[in-house]
Amino acid sequence: MSPDLSGDQSQHVVAFPIFHPRWLRLGRAVPFVVSPSILLFFPGPFCYPDRVNNAFRLGVLGSGKGSNFAAIADAIAAGKVPAQIAIVLSDMETAGILAGARERKLAAQFVPPGKFRTKLDEDAERAFVSALQSAQVDLVVLAGFMRVLKGDFLRAFEGRIINIHPSLLPSFPGLDAWKQALDHGVKVTGCTVHFVDAGVDAGPIIGQQTVPVLDNDTPETLHQRIHAAEHRLYPECVAAIARGEISVQGRRVVRKMS
Ligand code: GRF
Repeated sequence: MSPDLSGDQSQHVVAFPIFHPRWLRLGRAVPFVVSPSILLFFPGPFCYPDRVNNAFRLGVLGSGKGSNFAAIADAIAAGKVPAQIAIVLSDMETAGILAGARERKLAAQFVPPGKFRTKLDEDAERAFVSALQSAQVDLVVLAGFMRVLKGDFLRAFEGRIINIHPSLLPSFPGLDAWKQALDHGVKVTGCTVHFVDAGVDAGPIIGQQTVPVLDNDTPETLHQRIHAAEHRLYPECVAAIARGEISVQGRRVVRKMS
């Protein structure tokens, strides 16, 4: 991971991590732990269960314009993230994220969210989980998805859902985090990529990037700079996970020692 992709005054403080034991079941780890010479003697399914010729598969969920999705898709296209976007899902039929996915010729689907405003109802939850499972995603990437995920969804992808939040968590969870930061008077804020658990913006932190709060900032100008920082941080975090560089130790996400 490069120490700083930003080139601006923001400080890059990515704490990289992670390798989740569930991914062992996908056989993704095998090529990394078996020497190439052994692979010559044991080709095919023995060493490469079912995934080796495919990239790490992402399912991206969003409700809005999808600029983080676009940043990840661009980073993949540029060869910076060893992954592919298997499916993009939205709870909003007209969301920009769906249009962006279709422009890139990616599978994109609107899934009706059901009767609640801030969460999915049971049918919707089943529909999302089933679409992600059918697309065989390894990692669920929330990119501005405006509904809290619960029970069965979390269980179906335990330890394999990540989110980006526009503040330095645990400060300012919830809505309009940039405005909360500005109103509170902090001098530094930023963005956080974290695993999703049953709490709100509460799971183990994968990476963070700081953004200074300027004296003449408005909520809009601060939000804009945080957004730009997100577009650097999120692809880096996804890449680290896809490369199997990460392990989770309690609340701490640490980079796997090689
Ligand atoms: C981002 O600010 C992200 O932090 C928050 O939702 C916003 C999504 O923006 N979770 P976009 O749709 O990716 O442009």
